[in-house]
Amino acid sequence: MALSSLLLSLAARALTFFFFLLVIAFLGYCLYIKYIHMKYDHIPGPPRDSFFFGHSPTMLKAMKNDGIIHDKFLEAEKYGPVYRINMFHYVSLCTYCPEATKEILMSPKYLKEKFAYKRLFNLFGQRFFGNGLITARDHEQWYKQRRIMDPAFSSLYLRGLMGTFNETAEKLMDKLAELADNKTEANMLHLLNCVTLDVISKVAFGVDLDLLKNSSPFPKAIETCLKGMVTYVRDAFFEYNPKNRRYVNEVREACRLLRTTGAKWISERKAAMQNGDEVPKDILTQIIKTASQEENMTEEDEEFMLDNFVTFFIAGQETTANQLSFCVMELGRHPEILEKAKKEVDDVIGMKCDISYDDLGELVYLSQVLKETLRIYPTAVGTSRDVAEDMVIDGVHIPGGVGVFFNSYVSGRLERFFKDPLRFDPDRFHPDAPKPYYCYYPFALGPRSCLGQNFAQMEAKVVMAKLLQRFDFTLVPGQTFDILDAGTLRPKSGVLCTLSHRDYKNK
Ligand code: HEM
Repeated sequence: MALSSLLLSLAARALTFFFFLLVIAFLGYCLYIKYIHMKYDHIPGPPRDSFFFGHSPTMLKAMKNDGIIHDKFLEAEKYGPVYRINMFHYVSLCTYCPEATKEILMSPKYLKEKFAYKRLFNLFGQRFFGNGLITARDHEQWYKQRRIMDPAFSSLYLRGLMGTFNETAEKLMDKLAELADNKTEANMLHLLNCVTLDVISKVAFGVDLDLLKNSSPFPKAIETCLKGMVTYVRDAFFEYNPKNRRYVNEVREACRLLRTTGAKWISERKAAMQNGDEVPKDILTQIIKTASQEENMTEEDEEFMLDNFVTFFIAGQETTANQLSFCVMELGRHPEILEKAKKEVDDVIGMKCDISYDDLGELVYLSQVLKETLRIYPTAVGTSRDVAEDMVIDGVHIPGGVGVFFNSYVSGRLERFFKDPLRFDPDRFHPDAPKPYYCYYPFALGPRSCLGQNFAQMEAKVVMAKLLQRFDFTLVPGQTFDILDAGTLRPKSGVLCTLSHRDYKNK
């Protein structure tokens, strides 16, 4: 009896002590949040929803029902060229100040922001981008990879890809001809996704998927990963809600599919290399080179190759397909711009089937159209950097130790940079027009800018030029022109078109 009451009293004391510790930890955490508020609250920003959650309720609400969170950032523009967002003890800054954009993005000194990029290492516990080119934060680790990858994106190498760009775009034209003949609506986003995935698989990894003919789990897996990525980065508690377990498993499964595919393609390529077979100097060969050159690769080396496989498989595809779809959407809405672009294509390409590298340089107006598309619809919305030391942005003192977000969607839609910003006007990018000053960066800027920019724009031009050369198209009435934020921005409607053959050979 005495022993049990002693045990009971000990347990009660332990419980009280534990409770006491919890209260102390909680108060300590509150004080820390208060300290962060005091450190950064002089930077303007929208009113916080609450002391703890900061602005996150507003952000989560903005994303409900397919809302675009970037519209909230655009609204916050009224707080000035640098504004603050809080979430628990985190504080992030957003800026559209051109000078700060130039200073920070153009310098290798500012590393990619740790909160978002570290989080992309995995998705709900399944390794995803790992330490690949997009997510590598350490400068040395990134630079080593980038140097090895560069040759696969040199202009000489890219010229050699014109054959694949033409062939794959030609398969799309066959598919569109079939749809035109059958008077069937085309879901352009879906078809363009197939094309860009075919191109990256062929060009980067030497694999023919032929997605316009064959079905494949990859497009869905990529979409699932990207959607999962947005949820994972923006909602830290999502995975702990039992209601979301099924979805979380789907995302992990999609991620695993991409990585096991990568493992298979890499091992086939390595076997070919070991047999002394001639292999292309493509992205896959370079990925293998970025890992250890030793005979015995560690498990981490293998995982690292898969990080870059996933990086290129995803980065090299979605963004271009979405750009092309938005471009078709805007041309469908602006007949006069469409006619001008068609005329240029007729003048430069005529009835040729094979578009050459030099032809691309002459398609000046088409380039303007593609640039303007990315101004209003930057398919990869932005980038962020850690600012470790104190600095001043537009007269506001920024204490070091904070992440700064650069949002192309916001700066591309600001009246102060682009007059009447929602008007689709390719002449903003006329060769004689003044160049936007650090307020237009759909491919980011500086050392960490997009490695695939030229690749993407060559591919986009070949596809668009052939489409304009061969078909007249109109948008199916009644569809929305809204944007869907699915990790990358894409047209919500899928861009449904009816097509008819152009009599281009008689032009
Ligand atoms: C319209 C098409 C594309 C757009 C708008 C786009 C946009 C971007 C942006 C904004 C970044 C910076 C990301 C960040 O800082 O988090 C980036 C990085 C990157 N992109 Fe692209 N991209 C496109 C196409 C491509 C293609 C086709 C490839 C490959 C074939 C590619 C490969 C990469 C790589 C490897 C990086 C990381 C570069 C580094 O940090 O060294 N991208 N891209």
